[in-house]
Amino acid sequence: MSDGGTTGRVLWVTGAGSGMGRAAAVAAAAAGWRVALSGRREGALAETARVITDAGGEALVLPLDVADTAAVAAARAQVAEQWGPVQGLVLAAGLNAPRRTWGDQDLGELEQIVATNLVAVARVVDAALPDLRATAGVVVVVSSYAGWSFSPGAGVAYSASKTALASLCRTLNAHEAASGVRACHLCPGDVDTDFLAMRPQVPDASAREVMLTADDVARAVQFVLDAPAHVRIDELVISPVSQR
Ligand SMILES: NC(=O)c1ccc[n+]([C@@H]2O[C@H](COP(=O)([O-])OP(=O)(O)OC[C@H]3O[C@@H](n4cnc5c(N)ncnc54)[C@H](OP(=O)(O)O)[C@@H]3O)[C@@H](O)[C@H]2O)c1
Repeated sequence: MSDGGTTGRVLWVTGAGSGMGRAAAVAAAAAGWRVALSGRREGALAETARVITDAGGEALVLPLDVADTAAVAAARAQVAEQWGPVQGLVLAAGLNAPRRTWGDQDLGELEQIVATNLVAVARVVDAALPDLRATAGVVVVVSSYAGWSFSPGAGVAYSASKTALASLCRTLNAHEAASGVRACHLCPGDVDTDFLAMRPQVPDASAREVMLTADDVARAVQFVLDAPAHVRIDELVISPVSQR
């Protein structure tokens, strides 16, 4: 297992049961982080934990809905009790819907997408902030290419919520610089994950072949997590060469 000076540091990942969250959790564990895993599907989190522990890493399964403030606070407390303060966050929980244009969107779905992609990111950061302040922690917000470059096809709610994550990260960096907290607005382009099932036209196998993999993004996440404490990577855009 490689060290990189991070052995034993405590990471909390949301969306850890699949896709980029799972890949980032597995990569961080391989680099020596102890990784707390959150998401709604306990079985999916348990599978991520199995991959981590089979490789000799340490994982803690903490199922929750990121919309649930009490559950988020309880999970943070459980991590602290078990391992000590959270030193890193990877926030990969996210949502979109096939009906996403002004012509066909549903306002209830719009609220849920904004609640998951934007409000819940603030909720988890808020819960972990005392820990992050105490440890000069690092936050990786898995936003989107659509949060970096206007992408109308991503939809009203998704595009607006992911764009707002850029401001969320910048305010966090501006307000918490003195405490050493660093946030990265990570903006992946197309990634071959389950998330693509929420597109109005679900990409076929040949379209997926030219996309990023979750592991490609996990390497970028790990680069941010491993940066020395005086280095802040404010924004990182990673896209497949095929992306237009
Ligand atoms: N795939 C792409 O092309 C792409 C590109 C750019 C950015 N992104 C972003 O990348 C992030 C990860 O997505 P992915 O592509 O890796 O797809 P994914 O495998 O579908 O991951 C999304 C994760 O979010 C979790 N989640 C959703 N709602 C939640 C809630 N209310 N509470 C807790 N967890 C919740 C899901 O777990 P549960 O269902 O178990 O809760 C799931 O593990 C998302 O924020 C997405 O917007 C994706």
